[in-house]
Amino acid sequence: MHIDIITVVPELLESPFSHSIMKRAQEKGLLTVQSHNLRKWAINKHMQVDDYQFGGGAGMVLMPEPLANAIDELKKERTYDEIIYMTPDGPRFNQQAANQLSLKENLLIICGHYKGIDERIRQQYITMEISVGDYVLSGGELAAAIVVDAVGRLIPGVLNDETSALFDSFQDNLLAPPVYTRPADFRGSKVPEILTQGDPKKVEAWRYEQSLQRTKERRPDLLDE
Ligand code: ADE
Repeated sequence: MHIDIITVVPELLESPFSHSIMKRAQEKGLLTVQSHNLRKWAINKHMQVDDYQFGGGAGMVLMPEPLANAIDELKKERTYDEIIYMTPDGPRFNQQAANQLSLKENLLIICGHYKGIDERIRQQYITMEISVGDYVLSGGELAAAIVVDAVGRLIPGVLNDETSALFDSFQDNLLAPPVYTRPADFRGSKVPEILTQGDPKKVEAWRYEQSLQRTKERRPDLLDE
């Protein structure tokens, strides 16, 4: 999978994909992520990419021209399955959306900044909008990093044990069960016996029961879906 990201703050996207699982995905050749500084398509020598909003009001808006030129240029290189705009007023991201995006070849992600992007770019270019939650970030970059991470780890071959993503929280609309590691007795608090007795069937049943109980207690809304 290849992901291009258009941003006015590429520095914010330097670290998130350079470590751990995202780093490994790229080293294995399963994922490439490339950030593009929108200022490369600035309208003048002052590197301007934003302007005041018509009608008045505080906050700058990313201008349509640099964005359109950036997207047009990148589209010459590859055909995108989705052109995604990160925005708090988009549909909320979840595991199902991550699963679906993990099947795509090429994604282009646009990060807003300040007040966002000119509405005409949303109408003419954007095929999908994503919010990562009901709160407002300073820009779309951290939200884009969340989406790339959640999607990237689902690409087949990225996780060492491919089945491990199947047991993540939210797959099957259930939260993950509790996990334990050594020591079996930590300051008097013991690991549930069933996990140390070596019966895989019993362990599986226990985990399912714990998942169900956790979901009922913490996220009953997931069980309604
Ligand atoms: N940009 C600013 N806030 C955002 C959010 N919650 N989700 C996606 N993009 C954003």
